[in-house]
Amino acid sequence: MSFMTIDYFEDLLKKPSLFKKESKLDNNYVPKRLPHREKELSLLSQLFLVLVTNPNSISRKILIIGKTGIGKTVTIKLFGEMLVNAAQKRSGNIKYVHINCRKERTSYKVLIKIVRALNNNFPKRGYSPQDLLEIIVDIIKDQNLHLLIVLDELSYLIGKEGDLIYSLTRINDDAFNTRRHISIIGIARDISCLSGLDTSTMSTLQRNIIYFNNYNKEQLFEILKYRTEISLKDNIISDSLIQIITDLVYQTGDIRYGLNLLWKSTKIAENQNLKYITIESIRLANQDIVPFSTLDILKYMSTQKIIFLLAIINALDKCGGIYTSVREITESYLILCESLGIQPRTHSQLWNYLQEFKREYLITMEIVSEAIKGRKAQITVQNIPISKYKELLLEVIETKGIKI
Ligand SMILES: Nc1ncnc2c1ncn2[C@@H]1O[C@H](COP(=O)(O)OP(=O)(O)OP(=O)(O)O)[C@@H](O)[C@H]1O
Ligand SMILES: [Mg+2]
Repeated sequence: MSFMTIDYFEDLLKKPSLFKKESKLDNNYVPKRLPHREKELSLLSQLFLVLVTNPNSISRKILIIGKTGIGKTVTIKLFGEMLVNAAQKRSGNIKYVHINCRKERTSYKVLIKIVRALNNNFPKRGYSPQDLLEIIVDIIKDQNLHLLIVLDELSYLIGKEGDLIYSLTRINDDAFNTRRHISIIGIARDISCLSGLDTSTMSTLQRNIIYFNNYNKEQLFEILKYRTEISLKDNIISDSLIQIITDLVYQTGDIRYGLNLLWKSTKIAENQNLKYITIESIRLANQDIVPFSTLDILKYMSTQKIIFLLAIINALDKCGGIYTSVREITESYLILCESLGIQPRTHSQLWNYLQEFKREYLITMEIVSEAIKGRKAQITVQNIPISKYKELLLEVIETKGIKI
């Protein structure tokens, strides 16, 4: 990659970012505060308080029910942190283990996950579920701890796998005399998840359901505003634009969509060298349409350039990930040139094309530092679906009399 110039890198690296902390828009990030879930957090705290004041005096089994994207997972994770801290302050020992049953679909996988949360050197194979239950008991006794097991997306643990909660409850009752060392919180979107469980587990959980309500518009607005405050720099987005995102999110109620839209809009604004997000950034982020300007640019683009752009889209399509690299693009380009019987351009010409594409918002390119290999360009397209982009390019190329 000798054709890259150092000045260009420096320019890119100096470019100011609109994000204060990009990762705080991640779906899995657990914020310090959860506006409009205070009531649920307070209720959970009341229910678990006795485990802080009088460790291992009881076992709680609770079911959380609510629609998708309304903060069930994040609320329980934040609650878990609070509970563990509160216990620690009073030298109690509570261990929180969060398991996603969509990822760990069998009792065995769930149990291994619990054991490995307690001892991360534990081998992944070679034990029966019964062995694992006994190992869990041993560790609990050894460390005298209370285990709060969260079974998220519980509905994926179906049929006989549902016995798992029963087994955990049984060891709780059998192995520890009068002490109680295991609590369970299940999370699901509706109560149909109960049907796969045995009757006693079902009736226990049925008596202990906490329903999470959907957020209304005002609440959604405040939540999204809070998430922008912690993730974006000041004055990057106006209240009226947050309101527009709120209206879009309100249609489904899934906050994930709003966080995604915020992230995408910010990226688009950044790539267009704007100092703040505009309605147009949100539109581009929201509608996967081809911007009018892109169409115009493509129509008047030289054949050589447009073939190189197609090679980039092919490389992105093939790699399947978010970004492609200069190496992958060059490979894809050489293949395309060969099949069309045209003479490939030189590396420095291609590098110029890349910079032009970037300036014209046809691609986005970021330079990242890698410990061993040094700096590397990451190339992607953010505002147009790849399939659509390809269709469009092929159309334009055809008007130039080339058949691919
Ligand atoms: N009150 C809130 N304050 C801040 N962020 C929130 C709030 N409620 C939800 N979120 C954010 O919205 C996103 C979706 O929330 P979460 O993952 O907890 O949904 P869920 O109810 O578990 O959905 P699903 O049933 O699909 O798993 C997360 O990124 C979460 O951080
Ligand atoms: Mg969830």
